[in-house]
Amino acid sequence: MSLADDAERLRDIALSVLSADLERGQRLRLRVGPLYADFSRQLVDVAALDTLLAVADHAELARFRRAFADGEPLNTTEGRAALHHSLRARADDVPEGSMRSAQAAATEASSRVQVWVRRLLDEGLGESQPVRDVVNVGIGGSDLGPRLLDAAIADPIHGPRLHFVSSIDAHRAADLIATLDPATTVVVLVSKSFHTEETLLNGRLFVDWLTAALGEAAMQRRVFAVTANVEAAQRFGVDGERCLPIWEWVGGRYSLWSAVGFSFALAHGIDTFRRLLDGAREMDRHFFSAPLAQNLPVLRGLIEHWNRVAREFRSRCVVPYDVRLTHLPAYLQQLEMESNGKSVRHDGVPVDLPTAPIIWGGVGTDAQHAFFQALHQGTQVVPVEFIGIIQPAHRHDAHHRVLLANLLAQSAALAYGDDTRDSDDPLAAHKHHGGNRPSTVILLDALTPEALGALLAMYEHSVFVEACLVGINPFDQWGVELGKRIAKDFLPALSSETAASTLDPVTQALIREIRSR
Ligand code: F6P
Repeated sequence: MSLADDAERLRDIALSVLSADLERGQRLRLRVGPLYADFSRQLVDVAALDTLLAVADHAELARFRRAFADGEPLNTTEGRAALHHSLRARADDVPEGSMRSAQAAATEASSRVQVWVRRLLDEGLGESQPVRDVVNVGIGGSDLGPRLLDAAIADPIHGPRLHFVSSIDAHRAADLIATLDPATTVVVLVSKSFHTEETLLNGRLFVDWLTAALGEAAMQRRVFAVTANVEAAQRFGVDGERCLPIWEWVGGRYSLWSAVGFSFALAHGIDTFRRLLDGAREMDRHFFSAPLAQNLPVLRGLIEHWNRVAREFRSRCVVPYDVRLTHLPAYLQQLEMESNGKSVRHDGVPVDLPTAPIIWGGVGTDAQHAFFQALHQGTQVVPVEFIGIIQPAHRHDAHHRVLLANLLAQSAALAYGDDTRDSDDPLAAHKHHGGNRPSTVILLDALTPEALGALLAMYEHSVFVEACLVGINPFDQWGVELGKRIAKDFLPALSSETAASTLDPVTQALIREIRSR
């Protein structure tokens, strides 16, 4: 059987019929620690699942998983390994070799993070000034992870307020600076490469602001860098002691477990940060050891592959039913689309299967009143991933029950639709819900650091699985380079007509318009 045959066989079988199969239900529901995932509203049956496992076998998923666990250099186009899981490992978890050295480097860096967090919170910034505000200046993987964590995790230690500046649009930096006191502000410049234009320009703005207000020495006490390019950070003016390391073997979008979490640890405490890592570690252990058929990241990766390849669904909607997870869709956009938005295989040959889906989403229940109409009745079928939290962090139980009832109702409505048509109703066609629209429900016992760590590690590994199934490298990102390069060429054209005259006619017309105002 091929995936296409399975898809054809299942085309007219209703989810209500599929759901009656108990063996299928057992294989599609899985608990790992604080996470419970139910894939039983996906349009697969047991036979299709077996075909997917055969696809995984053919793609040598088990061998790639071993290679990944052992720290082999899987990022071939950049000549690097992808060792981000060593950041949350303990020495006993990892084999000798690159993983062991990475784990040792990570432990050392983590101690430095801990020392700085304690020192800044206990001793402040000198002259009796406490740390009241922390500004994380970074973009992409140097922003989205800490931003997600900050909103997701309740603050038991009432640490400093955490702010994020990412885009080069200076409205954000200017508005923020107007609210800050330089004497009590710490600025963390997060850039693995220390070449990223947005971060360098925004960083300069903050460094100049601190220097103008407090002088060079006081500025230096307040500015930190998290980078793999310590030399560039020091040239920029950051004190070497205050440069915390990351390494080439951590991709930006996989880096929140490293010193990239420094600003989060400052605001939420080092223990909270460690608990996040522990949760991720549990998911790593599950991913690297559980049989493929009972492996949560694998099962999710197979279902995603099915939806894209067999069912030809091109996008996926992510809807957390918890405002604290507001930034999850954006985080997953980078994780999944930057990792797997590729058109060629490892060996450079065009890939003959669809790769990353378009990820989009919003928070429930707001999203129900925005785009759910199209999810229920639009001409495109979009698989939805619902994320719910069983125990809220507030005491308004009635609210929470309504929230969860909405999550459950939306998933059921998408699956089963509504065939109670009243033939006398002239609007029957408009009111009809066809159903058979797939969704997954992921439930976290509570939004603890451990559960969030496990969830994010689950997504990371699932993205890896999806990449293996289509034979692409999920760890490079050449596709972001061209636009950056062209922006450099276009910059002079905004202030010089001669420079503009060499550009393409459409850009020239746009620049003329900009310059005329
Ligand atoms: O958008 C491209 C990218 O390289 C991402 O992969 C990365 O997370 C982001 O830019 C920021 O890079 P850096 O941490 O080097 O500033």
